[in-house]
Amino acid sequence: MPKVNILVGTMYGGALDVAEQVKPQFEEVGYDVEIIEQPTLNDLTQSAESLTLFCVSTTGSGDFPGNFVNFSRQLTEQSPSLTALRYGLIALGDSSYGETFCGAGRALDTLLEDHGAVRLGERLEIDAMETFMADDAAVPWVEEWIEAQKLKVA
Ligand SMILES: Cc1cc2nc3c(=O)[nH]c(=O)nc-3n(C[C@H](O)[C@H](O)[C@H](O)COP(=O)(O)O)c2cc1C
Repeated sequence: MPKVNILVGTMYGGALDVAEQVKPQFEEVGYDVEIIEQPTLNDLTQSAESLTLFCVSTTGSGDFPGNFVNFSRQLTEQSPSLTALRYGLIALGDSSYGETFCGAGRALDTLLEDHGAVRLGERLEIDAMETFMADDAAVPWVEEWIEAQKLKVA
């Protein structure tokens, strides 16, 4: 069965909550889904049918959450080729932080792109100033994403 790995970067659990809410949406269309709370480079699924979804919030001044620092450091230091990686990205942030809005999600997107990974569709940015429960934005986005990117396998 093709796999979706959902790699989570969170400080307060909002991004994990999003991962848990969207998990059944992928299961319904034929994927085996794993939520990974302490991601490492080894968790990137690079088989042709499989996918990686990142759910990553921002802390500090545009910084990665603590549980995601290891992943971003490995990516920078080991600089693997990710040309077989297809991914989606949900970034959580708060526009009241101004220029660093969704800074971690944006930085991750750039890092992945720099290593040859292919993002499917646009990045979703969820603004805590506008959306109280991040799932309210994430669930319909994932539904559309699966449809638009023709990701159904069952
Ligand atoms: C100390 C702190 C720093 C933050 N810094 C930023 C920031 O630089 N940019 C941003 O977009 N959001 C920032 N946020 C907002 C969080 O990213 C946002 O509330 C998010 O929904 C938290 O998700 P989480 O529950 O997964 O950690 C910050 C929040 C806190 C508490």
